[in-house]
Amino acid sequence: MSGGLRVTVTGGAGFIGSNLVSWLLRHPAIGQVTVVDDCSTGSMSLLGSDLADTDFRRGSVLDAGLLDQAVARADAVVHLAALPSVPRSVLDPLASHHANATGTLQVLEAARRAGGPLVVAASSSSVYGAQPSLPKSEDSLAMPLSPYAVTKLATEAYLGAYHACYALPVLPLRFFNVYGPRQQAGHPYAAVVPTWIDAALSGSAVTVHGDGTQTRDLTCVDTVCQVITTAITDRVTSPWPVNLALGTRTSLLDLIDLLGDVLGSPLRVEHTEPRPGDVTHSQADASRLLGLFPDATAVPLREGLTRTLAWHRERRAAAGARSGQAGQRTAVGSHARTS
Ligand SMILES: NC(=O)c1ccc[n+]([C@@H]2O[C@H](COP(=O)([O-])OP(=O)(O)OC[C@H]3O[C@@H](n4cnc5c(N)ncnc54)[C@H](O)[C@@H]3O)[C@@H](O)[C@H]2O)c1
Repeated sequence: MSGGLRVTVTGGAGFIGSNLVSWLLRHPAIGQVTVVDDCSTGSMSLLGSDLADTDFRRGSVLDAGLLDQAVARADAVVHLAALPSVPRSVLDPLASHHANATGTLQVLEAARRAGGPLVVAASSSSVYGAQPSLPKSEDSLAMPLSPYAVTKLATEAYLGAYHACYALPVLPLRFFNVYGPRQQAGHPYAAVVPTWIDAALSGSAVTVHGDGTQTRDLTCVDTVCQVITTAITDRVTSPWPVNLALGTRTSLLDLIDLLGDVLGSPLRVEHTEPRPGDVTHSQADASRLLGLFPDATAVPLREGLTRTLAWHRERRAAAGARSGQAGQRTAVGSHARTS
């Protein structure tokens, strides 16, 4: 690649980051994509064939020297690297603080040293926490209920402060329950959509914490990538946080019904205790987003779930084919040994 905008993505080996890298590499205005990721929750394999087209730097955003190299010539930095889980932060608040809050500060310092590229960073709807108003407006009071939410509030506040103190161009985005292809199931902090798809494809019951009437503004990862790409190409900035969701509201019970429809058979459901720190209702007021990004479009939930399910099926088929080949190799190997 040559010419065009140079973009550094922290957390580019994660779910949202790897989708974003794909979007950026296919955009004619983007010339180079650098990724910084320590692969603590992400994996280089998520980048697939895109890995060969990126300047991949494995390491932590807490490493100032690594960041200087990765950010030096960037026109924009998209800061997604974080430990992205409420329950994880309840178990280990300091680890979340280091990765998420101190990590953001390190990225902002690297951007400042590099002469001030645009910094777009991921905050989270969890900052609204106990705030009862619906839909959630950026003007309402943030009332975080978990250490994770506090780290995200710190993230967006630091972006605002760097704009005020150093005139750094910034865009803090509050993501709301993002889902889509490449979101991993099978780990203790996995999000609800991949976990439920994985359970359903394995023939297991899906677990609902609480009664399932809690609601979420489910946002397809393609919408997130579209908005961030536009922010970079059109240089959209805001010192104040911006909700990145289109104002939809789906209960977990409705999500279960829709997933059953898309899968072709109803899901079996088990209810367990609510989780500490979880938010009951979440729906974005999208007016600030649409003021800045009039072309932002929501992928309909059924369409997004269909794309997500297709990715899970492909991944399972590929894993099945690999274990079949390994089985054949083992059979050949054992035959060779006994002959
Ligand atoms: N997925 C969602 O619904 C959602 C909602 C709100 C906010 N967010 C935020 O969006 C961002 C991306 O989330 P995701 O869902 O893609 O999660 P993810 O875990 O798939 O991606 C995070 C990436 O950051 C990397 N990382 C973690 N700590 C690092 C460090 N110290 N240095 C370098 N890399 C590090 C991980 O290896 C991973 O690749 C996060 O900041 C998260 O808090 C996500």
